[in-house]
Amino acid sequence: MAETMTGARALRSAGDPAVEVATGDGPASAAGRAGRPFDPVALRADFPILSTLSHGRPLIYLDSAATSQKPLTVIDAVDRWNRVQNANPHRGIYELAESATNAYEEARARAAAFIGAPDARELVFVRNATEAINLVAYAWGRQSIGRGDVIVLTEMEHHANLVPWQILVQEADADLEFIPFDDEGRLRLDVLDVLLRLKPKLVAFTHVSNTLGTINPVREMTEMAHAAGALVLIDGAQAVPHLPVDVAEIGCDFYAFSGHKMLAPMGSGGLWARRELLEAMPPFLAGGDMIREVHLRRSSWNDVPWKFEAGTPDAAAAVGLAAAVDYLAALGMDAVRAHERDLTAYALETLRREIPGIAIYGPDADHRGGVVAFNLPDVHPHDVAQVLDRHAVAIRAGHHCTMPLHERLDLSATVRASFSVYSTRADVDVLVEGLHDVMRIFGPGA
Ligand code: ALA
Repeated sequence: MAETMTGARALRSAGDPAVEVATGDGPASAAGRAGRPFDPVALRADFPILSTLSHGRPLIYLDSAATSQKPLTVIDAVDRWNRVQNANPHRGIYELAESATNAYEEARARAAAFIGAPDARELVFVRNATEAINLVAYAWGRQSIGRGDVIVLTEMEHHANLVPWQILVQEADADLEFIPFDDEGRLRLDVLDVLLRLKPKLVAFTHVSNTLGTINPVREMTEMAHAAGALVLIDGAQAVPHLPVDVAEIGCDFYAFSGHKMLAPMGSGGLWARRELLEAMPPFLAGGDMIREVHLRRSSWNDVPWKFEAGTPDAAAAVGLAAAVDYLAALGMDAVRAHERDLTAYALETLRREIPGIAIYGPDADHRGGVVAFNLPDVHPHDVAQVLDRHAVAIRAGHHCTMPLHERLDLSATVRASFSVYSTRADVDVLVEGLHDVMRIFGPGA
């Protein structure tokens, strides 16, 4: 067993295949790998944290849905900002301040292009997807939702795409309706069809479930919602890091994402929205930089997107986000998706074969992002997490900010392994070894 573990931990598993990567025009910041086979084992060297130890063993990081690790190019971009670029964007006319403004706005352009935004000025920098959704609920919602109006959500939403709408409908005396999911974790579009007869003002749903991993048919859902006259908001926190996203092609109205799940720093993220919607919405937060003129008793607003960026921004996080975008673009998002699909299929197959009685939630690998939530027979997820921690395996146990989804499955909690570009089959092998240990300690007959 020790031999096996050493082999797995050497992260040179013969089972880790290289996936062909498309040759892209993106900067070759992913260690000059554009055009070469996507090799998750080799690119681990770009992520310093993956060489650290936990309880004296090499860290096996399987919690990328909670937050991703950061490559050197991102770490260096933030460091460079603080060493030689730091000044307050949009405020000064001296050389350093103008270069800070340029770096900040260049970061916006790179992030906007990465998600297919037709215009960089349609991308508002926010701290994370949660803030993006709150911005829409507050600014658009308070203007547009009134008594008796309906907002349609799904039963698989993260709390970030649920609680802001709960608060809004309570204030506005409006209603929420929910699209359920089936036993495979796929949304019931037949029910959406029925709910659309209520003429909702908004349909808001996740692109990829952070718990079931389900990749939702966002384009089809957007078309259905638009045909019924509703606007569409998509929570892309678990999609932008893992598959190609093109907001123009999807055709949605609002798209939210977090930087920290896509190799970028915490505190970075974006809200993309159609320009005319942003123009028509009142501000969310108020203060410096979001104004054009301020008088003692009245003010007027800056142009979009700055109208929604009150106060000094986290500019270091924004340039870090641009570096993360360059890294992912150089890998190629088709190759990233192919790698994570392959790894997820391997994980599903290995867990089912090796762990008798395991319950795995969500669809097959073709319809699932790199997320595998499961339970072991008669073992509480927190006990699983604790034993895995001793094996240096970092996974999340709990409700993953999706309590209603867990209620629908009649579960209080699940264990969740989640992947990113640097995750390997060897990681999954160590997870499985750890789960064997869990079963020895807690399983039936233990
Ligand atoms: N939303 C993050 C997760 O799914 C925190 O773990």
